[in-house]
Amino acid sequence: MFLWLLLGILLRHAALSRCMPDLGERAFPALSSTQLSDLAKLRDPLKNLNPSEPTSHLHKILIPRTPDTENHTLVRNYLVSTLRNLKWHIEEDRFVSTTPYGPKNFTNVIATKDPDAPRRVVLAAHFDSKFFPAYPLDQFVGATDSAAPCAIILDIAETLDPLLDARAKRVEQNELNPDEDEDAAETTLQLIFFDGEEAHLAETWATTYLPPHPKRRLLSASTPATPLSTIEHFVLLDLLGAAHPLVRSFFPDTAWLFDALVSAERRLREAHILDAAALGASFFRPRAAADVSLGYMGDDHIPFLHRGVSVLHVIAEPFPRVWHTIGDNATALDLPTLRAWNLIFRVFFAEYLGLHPEPSKRREECGHERKKEESTVVQEVYEIDGRHPDRQPAPELDQT
Ligand SMILES: *[C@@H]1O[C@H](CO)[C@@H](O)[C@H](O)[C@H]1NC(C)=O
Ligand SMILES: *[C@@H]1O[C@H](CO)[C@@H](O)[C@H](O)[C@H]1NC(C)=O
Ligand SMILES: *[C@@H]1O[C@H](CO)[C@@H](O)[C@H](O)[C@H]1NC(C)=O
Repeated sequence: MFLWLLLGILLRHAALSRCMPDLGERAFPALSSTQLSDLAKLRDPLKNLNPSEPTSHLHKILIPRTPDTENHTLVRNYLVSTLRNLKWHIEEDRFVSTTPYGPKNFTNVIATKDPDAPRRVVLAAHFDSKFFPAYPLDQFVGATDSAAPCAIILDIAETLDPLLDARAKRVEQNELNPDEDEDAAETTLQLIFFDGEEAHLAETWATTYLPPHPKRRLLSASTPATPLSTIEHFVLLDLLGAAHPLVRSFFPDTAWLFDALVSAERRLREAHILDAAALGASFFRPRAAADVSLGYMGDDHIPFLHRGVSVLHVIAEPFPRVWHTIGDNATALDLPTLRAWNLIFRVFFAEYLGLHPEPSKRREECGHERKKEESTVVQEVYEIDGRHPDRQPAPELDQT
């Protein structure tokens, strides 16, 4: 699944994206530091990511789950039932594909908060684990690859769900604040959990036509709407959860979204919601250096990229040291790092979608009390983050 491809596809992408306009760069209304801390307090950002907590999402996903096996079905059903509990629209995209071990059944899981929304931002990861034929590698659980990203995605959905409802209510009652972006209010959140082969889904979506929607403004008049063309941006998580990740910006047209992630991380650290001392350096490479690189990372997003979808690829590079080894299990995960990723994406998607934890007027009403609460939170945060990761930085891997 991981390949190093080069320049050609990137250029093709640049050419294609010109015929599929998205809303383009826009300023996210930034949450205040009080709102950031309210958002962090909405739900414990670690509870579902703790692999030793039996009720956590991560615990449920962290088993060998190669396509077309019983364990794989257990994990898929867990994803589906979790999102069904939220009453999201679920689609299970089943297909058979030939593998070196014969034909296998695959199922992509697609969950959409509001399937009627004119636009969506996609948050995706693959949920299957890599197949290895013999013991002990057949017990590979892919903690960073991509059990932890899947658990983060479920927690993001559960956390943002009530905020999306609140936003819909504001729209319905014509009560958007002047600083709320109408465009953001028309964009829903869609999750995709890929199974093994992802090309199939991009293909299906590129050839399924949707009826015209008056608000589907990102389309040029001449192109019929397809599910693919209503994707504003596609955010793919992969190989996250080990300490000291380093992520770079891959595509010039989503560099501004990369910057929004960097900004979320910086503000969370400044507000002491993330403990910089425990986490070490920023998770993101300075962008100027990445811009000169023409290198290009293969992953589940390639079929989408080929069809002109705007992609933000969040992948640790170098890959975690344990990549494709039996060591990519719970011991490879760093809890403060997982917590930080969860909060960074929580803030990023809240700001992208114009969500906030509560009406901003509460800020003035109880400014005094809130200050007190905030300092309590900071202390709790230090306790959780207090563990200093002792992992060595991952060595460069040969990805050819
Ligand atoms: C299924 O998952 C369990 C852990 O819940 C594991 O012990 C078992 O080996 C897995 N089965 C296969 C076939 O990998
Ligand atoms: C796929 O699933 C169907 C029905 O569940 C089953 O009949 C079929 O044998 C499976 N195909 C493969 C290749 O396992
Ligand atoms: C998990 O990874 C650690 C570190 O590589 C290894 O020692 C351990 O055997 C692995 N556990 C299992 C159950 O494979």
